[in-house]
Parts: sequence; structure tokens; C-alpha cells
Amino acid sequence: MVKRVKTAVFPVAGLGTRFLPATKAMPKEMLTVVDRPLIQYAVDEAKEAGITHFVFVTGRNKGVIEDHFDRQFELETTLETRGKLKALEELRQDLPSAGRTSFTRQQEPLGLGHAVWCARDIVGDEPFALLLPDMLFKGRRGVLKQMIEAYETTGGNVIAVEEVPHQEVSSYGVVGRGAGTDGGFAITEMVEKPKPQDAPSNLIISGRYILQPEIFSLLADQPRGAGGEIQLTDAMQTLMKSQPFAGVKYDGQSFDCGSKVGFLAANVAYALDRDDIAEDFLAALSKLGLIDGMKVAAE
Ligand code: G1P
Repeated sequence: MVKRVKTAVFPVAGLGTRFLPATKAMPKEMLTVVDRPLIQYAVDEAKEAGITHFVFVTGRNKGVIEDHFDRQFELETTLETRGKLKALEELRQDLPSAGRTSFTRQQEPLGLGHAVWCARDIVGDEPFALLLPDMLFKGRRGVLKQMIEAYETTGGNVIAVEEVPHQEVSSYGVVGRGAGTDGGFAITEMVEKPKPQDAPSNLIISGRYILQPEIFSLLADQPRGAGGEIQLTDAMQTLMKSQPFAGVKYDGQSFDCGSKVGFLAANVAYALDRDDIAEDFLAALSKLGLIDGMKVAAE
């Protein structure tokens, strides 16, 4: 029997420089896809996968994320008096249960590996999920849920991967593929942001991980890697010497909302999927002369 994954870590300390000036005073994780902040999608995905403890590694100017996952009595009372009970119910559903959130700070921007390490005392000696909220996944079943299902068979560490055009690999962590099926194969190596000619494949690390707690002691001594940052990928590459890592090619579509184009594409795809606005949105797009292209995207 593998140990159940109950805790998820959300690194939300990044500065969001690619979205300035929107992110000057507002965390990038609060940017909305239609009307839900990116961080809410990641929390929803974790909840769907059975996660019960939500750990946020924040930084300066990120207080609004904590407020977002709190009750807002004035707003709730107003919605109640105005009879907006559905909206009220939905707001309450978005919240993790009382006492099930933890917040810690990454005091310096030293990289993803360092951010994860900052959660070590809160996570303790347990396997945990790690979700990078920039990556948004749309599909019938959440990516983390699919990974947990794979983990129940494989144990060890599990990473969601996807194929990208070869020239794009240098923006990501890249894995080497060993034996297995798309639903779970052995990872043979990992490299952070390789040059396309040095990449072991075009399978990238997509921002969802299930990790064993031994990663923390490796992160504690991890020298700086790509971009001068403490890289999680480098510590995972070391952990691979003593523990298995499985890659899972998930079912669904991903949007890299850390880039403007990915973020805008996510907004279009999610809007076209919403019963309450899809029709009006298509009409608005048609005024822009875009409707034919959009119809194809909506199918
Ligand atoms: C991080 C990881 C990288 C992964 C990517 C997914 O990079 O270091 O391995 O492929 O997230 O978005 P970052 O986007 O922080 O540069």
C-alpha cells in the first residue's frame, strides 16, 4: 500500500514580471480566466484529487491570496440580503475547509526548488502534491487526479508530462522516457531548460508533481542551476538515483498561463465552454470577424 497524498503545495511567490503592469500590486495567481483566479483552478484540481491540506508558499504583496481563501462576511451578508443565494453557495464551495490552509513565505526569489523547500516543515515526512498555478489544464478529469491514480499503482514520485514542439523545450524541464505506457513510464533523466539539441526528448515537465519527502533534504544543499536559481528539477535528478520517478501523459489540454498568449488562449477556451456566456461571447467574436476560427476551437 502506498502512502496517501493528502497535502498539496502551491508555490505562489513569483513576481509575475511577464504580466506587468497588471501584476505590479496584484499577484499573478489572481489573474482571472473568465471569472476565476488562476490559483482557484489549481485548488479546485487538488480538491478533486482528494487533497485536504493546502499549503501556499507566498511572498511579499501576496496577502490577497490568503484573503481569497477566507470568508468575506460583508460580501456574504450582502449577497444573502439581495437573494443571490446561488452566488453565495458557489463562493462557499470554493473555500478549503476551516483550518486546512497553511501559508509560509519564500523570503527571497531563489527559484522553484527553494520555494518547495520552504514548505518542508509544514509538509513533514509525507508524500505531497505540487501544483504550479501558471499551468492550467482543461479536460474531463483533473490532471492531479489522473496522477494520483497512477501513483496508487507505481508509488514513488510521479510527474505529469506533455509533448511540445522540439524548439520549445528550452522553456521547461525535460524528461527522458524509459519503459512503460503513456499512462505511466519510467523517467530516465531530467534536465532543466536544456538547449533543444541537448534535450533527452520533447516531453516537458508540466507543473504537476507527486513527490516523496526525501526531496527536501536534497533541496537543502542544492547548488544553483539554470538561470542561477535553485532548481527542483536538479534535486529530482539526484533523487532519481534512489527512488523511481514515473511520467504520466495526461488526458486534457494545457495552457501555460505564465505566457500572455497561453493566458489569452485559456480565456477563450474557458469562455467558449461556459453555458452562461458562450453564445454572447461568440457573437462578440463574430463582430471582430473571428467567428469561423473560434467555432473550430470550440468543437
Ligand atoms: C518550472 C519548472 C520546469 C517546468 C515548468 C512548468 O519552470 O522549473 O521544470 O517545466 O515550471 O511550467 P518555470 O516556469 O518556473 O521557469
